[in-house]
Amino acid sequence: MSNFPNRVDYLRISLIDRCNFRCQYCMPEGTELDYLLNQELLTTEEILILLQGVFIPLGFRKFRLTGGEPLLRPGVVELVRAIAHLPETEDLALTTNGFRLGKMAQDLYDAGLRRVNISLDSLQADTFDKIIGNRGRSRWEQTWEGIQTAHQVGFDPLKLNVVVIPGVNDGEILDLAALSRDRAWHIRFIEFMPIGNDQLFRDRAWIPSEEIRTAIREKWGLESSSILGNGPADVFQIPGAKGTLGFISQMSECFCDRCNRMRLSADGWLRPCLLNETGQIDLKTSLRNGISIEKLRESVRQILILKPEINFKGRDTGTETQTYTRTMSQIGG
Ligand code: GTP
Ligand code: 5AD
Ligand code: SF4
Repeated sequence: MSNFPNRVDYLRISLIDRCNFRCQYCMPEGTELDYLLNQELLTTEEILILLQGVFIPLGFRKFRLTGGEPLLRPGVVELVRAIAHLPETEDLALTTNGFRLGKMAQDLYDAGLRRVNISLDSLQADTFDKIIGNRGRSRWEQTWEGIQTAHQVGFDPLKLNVVVIPGVNDGEILDLAALSRDRAWHIRFIEFMPIGNDQLFRDRAWIPSEEIRTAIREKWGLESSSILGNGPADVFQIPGAKGTLGFISQMSECFCDRCNRMRLSADGWLRPCLLNETGQIDLKTSLRNGISIEKLRESVRQILILKPEINFKGRDTGTETQTYTRTMSQIGG
């Protein structure tokens, strides 16, 4: 069982809906996406007004910057510096595809960021390129170097996210798990969710975390771990390993009733649940229309009260998938 606590104190802030990758499971090539215009994005100043005037007074203390790819957002380092230096910030993290980390890791660290989660779905360049929809020069090496740089710069914990796609990268589960043995890296296997690319989902379905754990257990053994359990992942460890293995099992074990987070999209919509579109409110338009910060705070407080009802209740099996109007890249993962 994951260690998801109940208190809602974690805001995932999407900085941009664009990405330099087109991952099959997220924003596959061929999907028509209407990217936001610059003036539609919340500005750095607006994000800070919302944090200081609305979310922090309501008890939010943990912030994660997401995308699309957040490192494509101009001014991301300055935003990191500003949020990291808010006295109430207890945790600031960023989820990235790693491609720009080689260049940016040191600046982000110097600005006060201490933890990053990086997507890495394959250790093989050709599979990696296929997953991210790249047909040009391979992007695996630069991504891998980005991860190494993040490690050298001192990001800790360093988590690697693997979305397991049957028939694509499931043959690499043991190789990816092995990364946690001699490095203090935390590898998380994520059950592929039918959001963003439900056709791929129907064609391929998903692999239950328990199947992955069985394969790892048979090879090296596996024990549960109490390290780093503050999110949706169930955390385990190969005996003697420096790092851990996390399992985010949205499909086989719905953890939504213990959810501690809300999402702010790049265009300023507050979304109480990743898998349910109910209860979203447009904070940006209200802010730009001059609504008082007290009124905005009150409307978010109402959503917080309603959140337990809004949290996804079912199990999305892919046969009866919901229809989502936004892709994962537009929500922020
Ligand atoms: P930590 O705070 O480091 O544990 O981060 P995290 O796992 O919450 O963040 P990350 O951005 O690395 O998320 C990895 C993936 O976990 C996301 O892209 C989603 O696939 C999944 N995930 C995160 N939060 C939720 C959630 O609230 N609901 C569901 N269904 N999945 C989530
Ligand atoms: N299912 C599960 N995880 C997904 N992500 C994106 N799309 C999906 C999906 N359909 C996650 C990846 C990536 C993060 C930004 O979003 O784990 O690391
Ligand atoms: Fe980009 Fe991340 Fe989506 Fe891949 S999963 S396309 S890296 S936002």
